[in-house]
Parts: sequence; structure tokens; C-alpha cells
Amino acid sequence: MTKKKLNVGMVGYGFMGRTHSNAFRKVSNFFDNEHVPVLKAICGRNEANTRGFADKWGYESIETDWKKLIERKDIDVIDICTPNDSHMEIAIAAAQAGKMIMCEKPLARDAAEGEKMVAAVEGAKVLNTVWYNYRRIPAVSMAKQLIDEGRLGKIFHYRANFLQDWTISADLPQGGAGLWRLDAAAAGSGVTGDLLAHCIDTAIWLNGSIKNVTGMTETFVKERKHTLTGKVEKVGIDDACSFLARFQNGSLGLFESTRYARGHKALYTFEINGENASIKWDLHDLHRLEWYDYRDEGKLRGWKSIHITDSDQPYMKNWWVPGLQIGYEHSFVHQVADFLANVAGNKSTSPTFREALETTRVCDSVLASAKSGSWMDVAK
Ligand SMILES: NC(=O)c1ccc[n+]([C@@H]2O[C@H](COP(=O)([O-])OP(=O)(O)OC[C@H]3O[C@@H](n4cnc5c(N)ncnc54)[C@H](O)[C@@H]3O)[C@@H](O)[C@H]2O)c1
Repeated sequence: MTKKKLNVGMVGYGFMGRTHSNAFRKVSNFFDNEHVPVLKAICGRNEANTRGFADKWGYESIETDWKKLIERKDIDVIDICTPNDSHMEIAIAAAQAGKMIMCEKPLARDAAEGEKMVAAVEGAKVLNTVWYNYRRIPAVSMAKQLIDEGRLGKIFHYRANFLQDWTISADLPQGGAGLWRLDAAAAGSGVTGDLLAHCIDTAIWLNGSIKNVTGMTETFVKERKHTLTGKVEKVGIDDACSFLARFQNGSLGLFESTRYARGHKALYTFEINGENASIKWDLHDLHRLEWYDYRDEGKLRGWKSIHITDSDQPYMKNWWVPGLQIGYEHSFVHQVADFLANVAGNKSTSPTFREALETTRVCDSVLASAKSGSWMDVAK
């Protein structure tokens, strides 16, 4: 197959900048696509640090202003790895310049921003995707296959958690590098847009749209010093959020997220109960899918722990040999692999901006319900 180059211009070289760079570098060693990503340019605001990152990861050039990056004729795809408050501006400018866009989640700080982003990419007809990467962990992709094959039968319950414990200290400041997630102006919201957004994206993908929600939030530490102003300021994010949901298919949802669950670093779990079978998954054991099928012979009926490493399980034929597992970083490699395959067919990759907007709308409804104390319909 003749290979075509796909020149990547990435904005932001923090946590996600690293996971994406790693994925772009590895993907063509494991997946055969017509397009091969080229690390053309990395953009950061500090020239020396950006240069250091470029040298370490193999970027051909650097920019210190994302507007310059977008103007460049030699860039095909803009990858947005910056905090949430810059997603909209960068994405709209990139769409207007005719670039393909890969944007980190959540799509935006709220649905009003997200709607403008959807209008921009659809108006400019540029290929787009949002990095809800957990969908592409093989065990999660396999859960999707099992549900789509109808093996669970009618679904009754969807339950998800995303628990962390890193913001319990009242001395932790808000805002600035590494701590923008605690600053509502930069993040949009707290655990709802940051962590529950992942759970909601997976839930919608696996179990369909959410009709309405009722939620509660809490901000346990009410004031924190702001890194950028040096002043003690009110904390505007939700530290914890729990919500109930009704899905369009009639099933009930229960979601919880907090950064105050001592002992938990990134405990993302979900469980789905259907009339015939149930599925459980746990990010800390991400290569396993727990499966219970009521139709099994009675004396052997019970929970099975399936090790998702076989070549007939999603994505695994591209990796090692059966029995040898892969991990977190590979979900990003898979997203790039799917994006490249879709570029060849001139198709956007799921979740597209429009699909990711649905998640942001659910987040908005949860936060509105927590304020009003009543059930909220999710906007269409
Ligand atoms: N998919 C996932 O699982 C996942 C995980 C973590 C973060 N995220 C998302 O990725 C995005 C980035 O998060 P992160 O954890 O990598 O944050 P980070 O703080 O580690 O990195 C952000 C980077 O953006 C840079 N930056 C900020 N404003 C900029 C600007 N105007 N121009 C150029 N660079 C700029 C910062 O200097 C930093 O390098 C967020 O939207 C976050 O929600 C997604």
C-alpha cells in the first residue's frame, strides 16, 4: 500500500500531549493504514520547554502561538491537548482553516461552547473526533460488541463510578499549571466535566441516550489560594457529584464521581445488568471483562473473568500473542488507528464533536439539576 503522510500539529505538551505523541509514534508499527502520522509541530507557550518536548518526542518543529500553527500550510490535523477553556477557540479557528481536528475531552466547558464547535466543524466539513479514549480499551470495546449482539437482552441497570483522592488537602491551590482542574474558569466544572464525562460517554455509547437526570454536587473545600492571582478565592468546581439517570431504552443509571475517595487514584468502573447477562469492568484491571450469563448450565453458572488478549477480541490481533495484555496507553493508539482508517474513507471518528456534545449536555443537565434540586431533561 502506498503510504500518505498526515502531518500533525499538537497544541499542549502536558499529560495528554505525552499520551497522544506516544500514540502517533507507535500506531504505524502496529496498524496498517494508508495514512501515516508525522509529528510535524508541537505548540507550547514556553519556547525552551516546547523545544525540549520536541527533541524528546521527535517533533520536526515548534510553535509558541497556536494561531501560527493553524496558519501553517504543512499541517493537516490539529490535536488539541490544552485545558478546557481553550478548546473552543482553537477548534473553531482550526475548522475555519480547513484542518482536521482531534480534540481532548470534554469537548468544551459547557454545551453553549460545544454547539459553536459542532457548527464550526460541520460548516467547514472537516474531519473531527474527541478523545474519549476509554471506549477503545479492548475490554470496553468488547462490552459494546456483546451488547450490540443482544446477548444481555433488555438492559435494566447501568452503574458507573470514577473515584480519585488527590484534592482532599485544603492547602492545595487552584489554577495554573497542573491545577487548572480546580479552577472553574479553566475547567468549566469539577468532577462532572472531568471524570463523569468519561463515564457518560461510555454509557451513551454502550446503552444509548440519557433522557433525564437528577444530581447532587458538593464542594468540600470552599476556598483555595489561586496560583495565578496569589489570593484566596472561592472554589467554583464540584468536588463530588452523584446522579441518577433514565436512559431512552428504559434502563436506570447511577453515576458517582469524587476526588475525595481516600485510597482511590483512578477507579473507573461500570456494571450493566440485562435480563440474560451482566457485564462488569474496572480500569484498574482493564484487560479483564467480568461476564455473568444466566443461560449457562445451572451448576456451572457464575461470574467469569475473561482475559481480553485473544486475537478475536477487539484490537488484540494487532498486538502480541494471546495471553499477553496491553494497557492504558494503547487506548490512545487505537483512537489514532481508527482516525487514520476513517481519514482514508473521509469520515469523522466516533465520538465526533456532535456525539461528544451529547455528553456535555448531560453534564450541563446534571449540574443544573444539582442547583435546582429537580429532575432535568437532557437538551436535544
Ligand atoms: N482522555 C483522557 O483520558 C484525558 C486525561 C487527562 C486530560 N484530558 C484532557 O486533556 C486536556 C489537557 O489535559 P492535561 O491533563 O494534558 O493537562 P496538562 O496541564 O498536563 O497539559 C496542558 C498543556 O496545555 C498547555 N497550554 C495551556 N494553554 C495553552 C495555550 N494557550 N497554548 C499552548 N499550550 C497551552 C500547558 O502549558 C500544558 O502543556 C484537558 O482538556 C483534559 O480534560 C483527557
